[in-house]
Amino acid sequence: MPVQTPARDGAPAWTIPDFLEARDGRLHVNGADAVALLREYGSPLYVFSEPRIRANIARLRRAADSVDRPVKFCYASKANSNMAVLAAVRDAGIDIEVNSGGELYKALRVGFRPEQIIFNGTSKTDDELDDAVRAGIYSINVDSVYEIELVEAAARRVGKRANVTLRLVPEIGTRSHIGLQTALLTSKFGITSREVPDAFRRALANPELIRVGGIHIHVGSQTPDVAPFADAFKTMWEHLVALYRDTGHTLEHINLGGGIPVNYLRDRSQADELPAAERDMLGADLDPADVLAAALRVARESARAVAAEHLLDRTTILLEPGRSVISDAGLVLTTVRNIKQRPETGDVWLLTDAGFNLLLSMTTYKWYYHLVSASRADAPHDTSYKVAGPLCDSGDVYFDIEGESRLPDYRHLPAHVRPGEALALLNSGAYSLAQAFPYNGRPLPAAVMVRAGGKVDLVRRRDTYEDLLAGDVW
Ligand SMILES: Cc1ncc(COP(=O)(O)O)c(C=O)c1O
Repeated sequence: MPVQTPARDGAPAWTIPDFLEARDGRLHVNGADAVALLREYGSPLYVFSEPRIRANIARLRRAADSVDRPVKFCYASKANSNMAVLAAVRDAGIDIEVNSGGELYKALRVGFRPEQIIFNGTSKTDDELDDAVRAGIYSINVDSVYEIELVEAAARRVGKRANVTLRLVPEIGTRSHIGLQTALLTSKFGITSREVPDAFRRALANPELIRVGGIHIHVGSQTPDVAPFADAFKTMWEHLVALYRDTGHTLEHINLGGGIPVNYLRDRSQADELPAAERDMLGADLDPADVLAAALRVARESARAVAAEHLLDRTTILLEPGRSVISDAGLVLTTVRNIKQRPETGDVWLLTDAGFNLLLSMTTYKWYYHLVSASRADAPHDTSYKVAGPLCDSGDVYFDIEGESRLPDYRHLPAHVRPGEALALLNSGAYSLAQAFPYNGRPLPAAVMVRAGGKVDLVRRRDTYEDLLAGDVW
């Protein structure tokens, strides 16, 4: 019989004091009743917590305070670029990373100053580069030697010098999902270590057009161990020193990318049903202070060995956290719409109104989002159900149909769930709304932001049927 892992004071293990709680039997987010939210704003519903965003950013800042170099955090807006989320991140005092002209536009519109913005991406257009150069952002991270020419051309067109960083791909593996690893030579990103010296020489050729400020590696998302971060930092540090020795040019920053993991298995009641590798990756609980300390330790040792400490003392560290800012600050509320019992298997099926079009990684990566009843949050979750979404697609299920068992076959919820019961997919603030699409003619849901004290603001209105036609011409 499945049993929910109890936590402090007998509260369910997924609870987080003052943020995610079971009160009066129902799920509450910073004091706001999830069931009441569904009643007011409709189902399904994205819910974000501003206090949790702030707490996550405060944790990153504490990590920065524990090391002796300045750390600039640039929130990876691809994780969630809802304008109210961006505003909350801006108000919490960190900077921003964008990956497209659209994200750049949003960052500027919400009030990030140009010197707070860095721009990654493999396929930037001339218009995107012109916008970035015109705005005078902190860094355009170039992804190939060829792209250096494109940035120079943009600088010429706009009549302004561009700030650039070179993005590397150093062949560093992680224990994350292969689709989330970005530092392997088989990945599409970056400039290889062999190309780096020439790439720097090329980037330094026209200093009136571009200013070379840094070096960048993103090892991947949800990276469960310190080692790949330390290896990446060491690689970049060595290039920084070599560049100084070869050309006299000093880089100002080393950008260690994103990838600080989130513990998706705070409640481990179904953890044993996941393959071990998946369990280790999803349950990672890495302190960003350890990542920074390990990275700096290897750089210090190397700096001492090659008498380059003066270079390290001038270096700012950049981090691009996405998931670790917004993932556990968000959840998807959904309602059971239909129920069936298969006589052959005895399985009870619950059909919800939240499909993979709202949480794409449930199908692309078979990502595990812990599911709880919002209506009966503190009831024992001791009954097994097959749970599936509403899409006309047999892959729209909350388990793995490809025989890989990368998700549990059943979800554990209270006994006697009936249509109308509210459920919550936890830890789903990252790469959810940002990747949502209106498949099957399903208007995208509303989103709310819960503030301190339980005040609730609508931060995305629910799409209408008319919105489904908005871009069509006929
Ligand atoms: C270049 C870059 N930086 C930062 C991130 C954010 O990663 P995460 O959300 O895991 O922190 C990503 C996401 O994959 C990325 O591609």
